[in-house]
Amino acid sequence: MIRIGMLTSGGDCQALNAAMRGVAKTLFNAKEDVEIYGFLDGYQGLIYGRFRLLTYNDFSGILTKGGTFLGSSRTPFKTIQDPDANGLDKVAAMKQNYYKLQLDCLVILGGNGTHKTANLLREQGLNVVTLPKTIDNDLWGTDMTFGFQSAVNIATEAIDCIHTTAASHGRVFIVEIMGHKVGWLPLNAGMAGGADIILIPEIPYDIDKVCDKIQERHDRGSRFTILAVAEGAISKEDAALSKKEYNKKLEKRKFPSVSYEIADQINKKIGLDVRVTVPGHTQRGGSPCAYDRVFASRLGSEAGKLILKGEYGFMVGYKNREIVKVPLEEVAGKLKMVDPKASIIKEAKALGISFGD
Ligand code: F6P
Repeated sequence: MIRIGMLTSGGDCQALNAAMRGVAKTLFNAKEDVEIYGFLDGYQGLIYGRFRLLTYNDFSGILTKGGTFLGSSRTPFKTIQDPDANGLDKVAAMKQNYYKLQLDCLVILGGNGTHKTANLLREQGLNVVTLPKTIDNDLWGTDMTFGFQSAVNIATEAIDCIHTTAASHGRVFIVEIMGHKVGWLPLNAGMAGGADIILIPEIPYDIDKVCDKIQERHDRGSRFTILAVAEGAISKEDAALSKKEYNKKLEKRKFPSVSYEIADQINKKIGLDVRVTVPGHTQRGGSPCAYDRVFASRLGSEAGKLILKGEYGFMVGYKNREIVKVPLEEVAGKLKMVDPKASIIKEAKALGISFGD
């Protein structure tokens, strides 16, 4: 008999259902006596004992569906050890529900914050296997997360659409791409969509350099310029501030996001009218792309195999084109950022893309 619990936590992304299906089918096909409990809305379900016993049929027909059929929520790690509004010890409650259901293992699908809590549960003695999801691709210990390729496709399509209208009107456009702390998504979508300027959090920009690039294109006769700007793009000036000073400055920012601020600065410095497009949560929505369907299914299947072998305490990741198991303590609390010296940055620069540095 194998009895597992499953939950999806944090911001959703494409292929969560495909990954859960991968785990479940691998287990159901290998053993007769498998029980899978699905906790609803991420850690909230585990804390408050909201779950459903899932059958083989629950995992049928979900490969191509976006979102997560279990629901998700953000349960910040920062406050996970604080009692809830009614004084409930959340960690103790999660352990209690795990033991009450006599689970052999918890399968947790999530990104950075989710992995910190998963590792805490492991430290507290629970058996945990995790799967790396996020459109940001910023999880340590894996070259790729599922959801990322689907989001790159959507963000690229947004840039493609902007390209045609920008060319018709001879305008400067900013497409704001998700990524508060890391720039994998804007970098990849920007390159795929042929952006002229890509601004990511790891490479602070100088607004004068951004304007120089636009002016240079203008002078060469290009009718338009496209900028792919990460939500968390930051100027050199702001990057030099302490976190506290920067947050204070952000509180006073009169623009809805960095892209609108950059648009205003470009307008004031070189007199060009700039339009901003924010694809926002569309980047996390819709069906997973073919790559993510296969990738998430493979990761899910390998997680199923680990459970069958009774190997716990790992994230199933992807390194150098191989599926690997990475100890949870190595993953938790670390971000995989874009290295400004990485070859992809050098190649992008060789193509004429400016990072505003
Ligand atoms: O972590 C995934 C992500 O989509 C980020 O790219 C984005 O900055 C953030 O979540 C948005 O969070 P929320 O959906 O809570 O607004």
